[in-house]
Amino acid sequence: MGDINIYADSADIYDIFEFKGKSFTDITVQQLTDYFRQFNVKTVLDMSCGTGAQCIPIAQQGFNVTATDLSLAMLAQAKKKAGNTPNLQFKQANMITVSEGEFDCIYSAYNAVAHLSKSQLQETILNAAQHLAPNGILIFDVFSAEAMPFLPRNKVLDTALEMGDTRYVRYTNFNFDITKNAVDICQEYVIQRGFEDIKELMHNYCLQAYHHDELAEMIKQADLKLITLSVEGMKDVFNEDGVCHFVVAQKQ
Ligand SMILES: C[S@@+](CC[C@H](N)C(=O)[O-])C[C@H]1O[C@@H](n2cnc3c(N)ncnc32)[C@H](O)[C@@H]1O
Repeated sequence: MGDINIYADSADIYDIFEFKGKSFTDITVQQLTDYFRQFNVKTVLDMSCGTGAQCIPIAQQGFNVTATDLSLAMLAQAKKKAGNTPNLQFKQANMITVSEGEFDCIYSAYNAVAHLSKSQLQETILNAAQHLAPNGILIFDVFSAEAMPFLPRNKVLDTALEMGDTRYVRYTNFNFDITKNAVDICQEYVIQRGFEDIKELMHNYCLQAYHHDELAEMIKQADLKLITLSVEGMKDVFNEDGVCHFVVAQKQ
């Protein structure tokens, strides 16, 4: 988990690069709240809230939300975006050990659990299972190892946009290691406001991907019942299905 610092120097531009300037991931929020309604969820823990792309609209819909994240910089952005949103409280916590009481749903969205090693993900699932109310649900999404070999192998220009007087450009290089099912990512940010000097940032980090059967086994190890294991994760950024697993599991 050594790469979490990537969020410290870029929390203020995270939404611009990840969501092309949007503040919320509407499709993911809809997926989550559909399950909340199906499973009668009232209390929610977002254990990797980032800048609040899911937890803010979810709280605005009346769910009672606790939102945690390891990064103080990301939490600061989320708090700024949330303003005075009722039913929403923020705290700093590590999702592996987070302990903020019992919830009807605990979720982690937008591939945040890919920052964890495999053993850390198993610990996180076990910890979440302990903090679920009876019949409560755990939801997370994570890169699919089946899809990773199809990522582009060359350097791609993944963002080029202009907002107000500022231009935002990002190059991304994916390198999938099939022996570890992990993706090494190298990202180069170029930002220029007006005619000011160009600001450059470099991020190098690694994301863990999973096979369908590995995730099913991890859910089983935590004594949870698998409800859904689809490839419909991160639909706000990937138009096609298959890139990211979407897992829903229930405490029995
Ligand atoms: C890709 S962002 C996703 C954030 C948000 N859910 C979204 O959709 O934008 C990953 C987030 O996971 C957080 N994170 C990574 N490892 C974590 C950990 N062990 N515990 C809590 N948060 C963690 C990062 O700080 C970051 O905010």
